Amino acid sequence: MTSTVPAEAARAQALAWIRQAPKRLLIGGQWVEAASGKRFETINPTTEQLLCRVAEADSADVDAAVAAARKAFEAPSWAGMSPHARTRALLKIADTIEAHIPELAAIESLDNGMPLWYATAAATACVDIFRYYAGWCSKVLGTTIPSDGGTLIYTLREPLGVCGQIIPWNVPVLMASIKFANALCCGNTVVLKPAELACLTSIRLAELVQETDLPPGVVNVLPGFGPTAGAALAQHLGVDKIAFTGSTAVGKQVVRDATSNLKKVTLELGGKAPNVVFADADIEKAVQAAVKTFCGNSGQVCSAGTRLFVQESIHEQVAERVAQLAGTWKAGDPFAADTRLGPLISAKQRDRVRAYIGAGQEGGAALRLGGQAWSGAGYFVEPTVFDHVKNGMRIAQEEIFGPVLSIIPFKDEDDAVLQGNDTHYGLSAAVWTRDVSRAHKVVKALKAGRLWINTFGEADPAMAFGGYKQSGWGREFGQESIEAYTQTKSVMVRF
Ligand code: NAI
Ligand code: MG
Repeated sequence: MTSTVPAEAARAQALAWIRQAPKRLLIGGQWVEAASGKRFETINPTTEQLLCRVAEADSADVDAAVAAARKAFEAPSWAGMSPHARTRALLKIADTIEAHIPELAAIESLDNGMPLWYATAAATACVDIFRYYAGWCSKVLGTTIPSDGGTLIYTLREPLGVCGQIIPWNVPVLMASIKFANALCCGNTVVLKPAELACLTSIRLAELVQETDLPPGVVNVLPGFGPTAGAALAQHLGVDKIAFTGSTAVGKQVVRDATSNLKKVTLELGGKAPNVVFADADIEKAVQAAVKTFCGNSGQVCSAGTRLFVQESIHEQVAERVAQLAGTWKAGDPFAADTRLGPLISAKQRDRVRAYIGAGQEGGAALRLGGQAWSGAGYFVEPTVFDHVKNGMRIAQEEIFGPVLSIIPFKDEDDAVLQGNDTHYGLSAAVWTRDVSRAHKVVKALKAGRLWINTFGEADPAMAFGGYKQSGWGREFGQESIEAYTQTKSVMVRF
């Protein structure tokens, strides 16, 4: 669905909502101040100006929200709800989101800085995600197990209980929707901690969810900081599962914290995806996708194709065209129709990305595009393309989370696979070739959780997403995500 609301009208509506009521915590169906009374500031990264102050959750609020989520989990209104009623509840949430796409997108653009077109696509994807999971409610199946004539053995797939969910700031409305829909379709209840850098669409989404008939306490939302609210949630003895999306370093800390009660853990962490282009590929299509994946959302995407492996014979041609095309990605006001690139989320992220650009230059990579500091307001970094990068360089090994591409020439299939896999990440990867056998061979050899052939970054909620190696534990989307939010009970009946 494309939005028919003009950008200016959407911005005005979003600002009216942002300024209207104080932004609070959602606990047990009530919007409340933090127990401490504290609030924190949320900033518009395009203007560097204050958007609003948000109630700041801490461990006392985590206690209250977990208690509310436990009560809701055990209440007949949720635990006893028929799967079909749950389907209707999730479909209703989807319809409600669909009716608010322009507003949600505009709030996201103000809070996160992403261009409105990108935010609109993300908000639209949330609708599909809720509809996808709505269909699962009546399909969370147990099994019957062959046995002798004197017994019946069967399994039940049951919800885990209270799910703590910690999400990042890069595509918040999408992250919150994935986490809510997945947990709720399996009958769990949720305590969501959005990122302190962009929490407003999580609040608006929770308001919209509250407008449907979901029982109070099924969804709780606690804006706050990682080391306080986030850690309290990960450590909490009353939480049955923690689902985390964010940096690999914090993911490891979440695992350590979760040992308090051995809660279940799933992790969606960083990436450094190889995007491998062979000489026989449709080069123009490969180049267009290569630029879109490293520039989209200013590179603040875990699955972004940030290492572009190009076969030697087409290397010069591809590098030149990539730089040329990336140079047309105009940075600016997220609400302007011709803006392709928004700012990064914060001054800290901008400085981090600029430090990587410096490291690339010092390391001897050839700068093909970008590298200039942005003058004026906003945490902008323009598209930056490094050529003749060695895969061992820092810019090719560490997740930069900015619009920075490393182009790495390769000889043949074996060389591409060897270098592509030479990373401790394994989230996604792609291969471009017209040779069907080679495509499947390379896909099989690349160690990553989501692969593409002759495309990059396309998503379908039925397609599992998650990491090999240090890119995470478990999968979101698809059948495996149902397993990640349920547990098996096996039963023997003796006749
Ligand atoms: P981060 O991992 O600190 O933030 C993600 C979420 O974790 C936020 O909600 C934050 O409040 C929470 N958090 C932080 N410390 C925590 C703790 N001790 N316990 C529980 N929750 C905690 O990411 P950050 O520092 O904002 O970004 C740094 C880098 O991390 C980025 O440059 C990027 O490389 C990577 N990152 C990767 C993401 C992904 O989707 N894979 C998303 C965000 C960041
Ligand atoms: Mg913000």
